[in-house]
Amino acid sequence: RRPVIISTDPGIDDSIALLLALASPELDVRAVCINFGSLHNTSQLAQNALDVLSFAGREDIPVFLGATSVQLPASGAHANTSLSAAEFIAHACRSWHPAPLLVSLAPLTNVALALSLEPKLPELCPDLYLMGGTVIEPGNVGPMSEANIGNDPEAAARVFAAGFETKVASLDVTRPSWLSPDFLGKVRDLPNPAGPFIWEITRFYERAYETVGYEGGMPLHDPTAVLLHLKPEFYQLHRWPVTVDTSPFPSVSRGVLLVDRRGGPKSPPPPASDKVHFPMHVDAAAVHEFLLARIG
Ligand code: BDR
Repeated sequence: RRPVIISTDPGIDDSIALLLALASPELDVRAVCINFGSLHNTSQLAQNALDVLSFAGREDIPVFLGATSVQLPASGAHANTSLSAAEFIAHACRSWHPAPLLVSLAPLTNVALALSLEPKLPELCPDLYLMGGTVIEPGNVGPMSEANIGNDPEAAARVFAAGFETKVASLDVTRPSWLSPDFLGKVRDLPNPAGPFIWEITRFYERAYETVGYEGGMPLHDPTAVLLHLKPEFYQLHRWPVTVDTSPFPSVSRGVLLVDRRGGPKSPPPPASDKVHFPMHVDAAAVHEFLLARIG
């Protein structure tokens, strides 16, 4: 079982990703690190993570407070405040064997801060799975920018350039993995408490998508980062060089991934430091079947 550290901003689909990881015998979730993202209030995000862990009967998993974009009087709840999320990630990567898998379901601030504390992070903890960005799908916070990258493009630029063996759950596969109302109904009817819980929390997500014109259902964003590790055969991965547009705010291109897909038979291979992989095709039916079985 591979130890896993999840950096997250829960979040409805973050919670589903967390439950999926907890339900997976291949993974040993050892810590949850909170990063601003879906909310600026990291205390609320930490509370959400603690509630999901408690629901799953896993209060033993520590929650570390991480990057916040505004400083609020944190209640801290039961979160572990002895180390910041970035300090914890750096510490775990230095001392755990086998090295943990890093899974990021939020802006990459925690990982970038950990990288400043430990520049050898990509050697110590090479495997990074992250939800964020888009290659050819339209964006969700700008014409071509996605929220997790768009909320901290500088962090994303540092992390992409650092040399992690990175798998990117981008909108190119998270939207085509769309969960239909029919699928969510099957989740609701699962014979365990997780099904109805997921159904309840996805009511809000579904409604939010309906307000922008989608006709029911929801994309499968954050769980895809976990699925890329569990079921890589469901995806077609391409290794492409990438940089991130960090034009000063406000700029329509800020947070856009510049993915160099030129390639071609005579092109030189990407430099060895470029280890970022993008999935451009997903077997959505296989994803749905697996997800239902695993949550069930
Ligand atoms: C990302 O933003 C949040 O809504 C989701 O949790 C996901 O991490 C998708 O752009």
